[in-house]
Amino acid sequence: MQHTAGGVIKMSGGLLSFDSRVRTLLWDKTVLCVDLCHSSQVCTMSPPVRVIVVGAGCRGEIYAHFASIHPKRMQVVAVADPRKFARNKLQQKHKIDCENVFEDWQSIVEKEKFADAVVICTPDRLHRDPAVAFAKRGYHVLLEKPMATTAEDCRAIVEACTQSGVMLSVGHVLRYDPVIHKIKELIDAGAIGDVIHIQHLEPVGYYHFAHSFVRGNWRNEEESSFALLAKSCHDIDLIHHWAGGRRCVKVSSFGSVSHFLKEKKPKGAADRCLDCSVEKDCPYSACKIYLDAVKRGNTGWPVSVICPNSFPDVESVTGALKSGPYGRCVYECDNDVCSNQVVNMEFEGGLTAAFSMVAFTEEICKRKTTIYGSTGELSYDGHEIRVFDFLTQRSTKHTGSSDAPSHFGMSGHGGADYHLMDAFISAVANNDPSMIRSGPEETLMSHLLVFEAERSRVEGRVVHCGSCSQS
Ligand SMILES: NC(=O)c1ccc[n+]([C@@H]2O[C@H](COP(=O)([O-])OP(=O)(O)OC[C@H]3O[C@@H](n4cnc5c(N)ncnc54)[C@H](O)[C@@H]3O)[C@@H](O)[C@H]2O)c1
Repeated sequence: MQHTAGGVIKMSGGLLSFDSRVRTLLWDKTVLCVDLCHSSQVCTMSPPVRVIVVGAGCRGEIYAHFASIHPKRMQVVAVADPRKFARNKLQQKHKIDCENVFEDWQSIVEKEKFADAVVICTPDRLHRDPAVAFAKRGYHVLLEKPMATTAEDCRAIVEACTQSGVMLSVGHVLRYDPVIHKIKELIDAGAIGDVIHIQHLEPVGYYHFAHSFVRGNWRNEEESSFALLAKSCHDIDLIHHWAGGRRCVKVSSFGSVSHFLKEKKPKGAADRCLDCSVEKDCPYSACKIYLDAVKRGNTGWPVSVICPNSFPDVESVTGALKSGPYGRCVYECDNDVCSNQVVNMEFEGGLTAAFSMVAFTEEICKRKTTIYGSTGELSYDGHEIRVFDFLTQRSTKHTGSSDAPSHFGMSGHGGADYHLMDAFISAVANNDPSMIRSGPEETLMSHLLVFEAERSRVEGRVVHCGSCSQS
């Protein structure tokens, strides 16, 4: 009997194989047993992975929640956030010792290493420094996307992790969405032959865009990052992934801010929705998005975001709309990020891809994809996958299964946040980076492609990828 890498054991009479998560046991491709372990952890009795949370906002809270579900696998041992409300909330929920609650992450890296990993969920422009510092201190890093806001900083993060020998997982949660993962499995299994063309749409959602990209944290490039990076680095990463590691050779992009402009402000509209006489006719009214929602008892996203220092209720939401950024008229904000953008790509071997991001949609972030292959067509409507085979002229339908708890996090990205955390914690517990689907090299490549696409949009020309070291 010979044991080979990749989970295959050669035995006389056949091959006994198991997937990397030791979930499925196969005898010569026949499934013998599934779900050997309930989740992706390898069955060991290792102690919980000790995690530091840097940035205890929406994302930090969601990832930390994994410890509440699996206390034997993960423990939140420290938190850093300049917002007292946020850090205290996380401290109370995870019973973090008082001496491990910090206003800034620098105080943690100055200390002797006392945890296994760090989860970095700070705003986009505050990713590089903590990621590099924690990596150099020997902590495994889960870093929210985008990795950083410049190509140079993304490279610095990968370099620091590689040189320190620590694992890096980037918050490309869609890689962990079971249905989206199935697309890659089908491509790799040859379900549509050679991939020839990829068409991919990201419908952001009309009120989601108004919330995050007109009034909110990602509205202004100087303060956060451009829309293609902030919102669609997930999608360019998926396209790059589906292209199977081929290098993108040329990219072009167009896009602009539409509609959310001062000149589009309706006659008679006020600067704040609470004072506006025409608010009832406006789909983007903050009264509809936040106040009506909290009156109906909905305190989840996006209502949860707008009261940074208290729990949302009618009083605190009204206060936030009176004086905070989320009460502003969408035609009177300092937003400058694209509301619609297209990116065309040509990969090695002639594979082409066309991506669209648009704000003005009914669907909220439910991507739609069609992948055209030499022997079939694969389409994904945001819910299930359909594969049409040219030879048999038959179509088959596919979905993915998820054991993520339905209440995971505030949105959970259809279970993907849970699976990302599951993979990261397992990778650290088992010292096995292969469990991470959004690792350093591939993620860096797809981020560099995002910077090159944006360069094309800004400079109004086709960009030959790799032609500029700073791209
Ligand atoms: N993977 C995804 O799909 C996804 C979705 C949304 C946001 N994000 C990304 O996650 C990151 C966090 O987004 P969010 O929605 O949680 O934002 P958020 O504003 O809710 O949370 C950010 C937190 O970081 C804290 N912070 C600011 N400076 C800090 C510092 N120096 N040290 C420690 N904490 C600091 C803030 O006080 C805040 O609590 C962003 O980079 C964002 O782009 C990723």
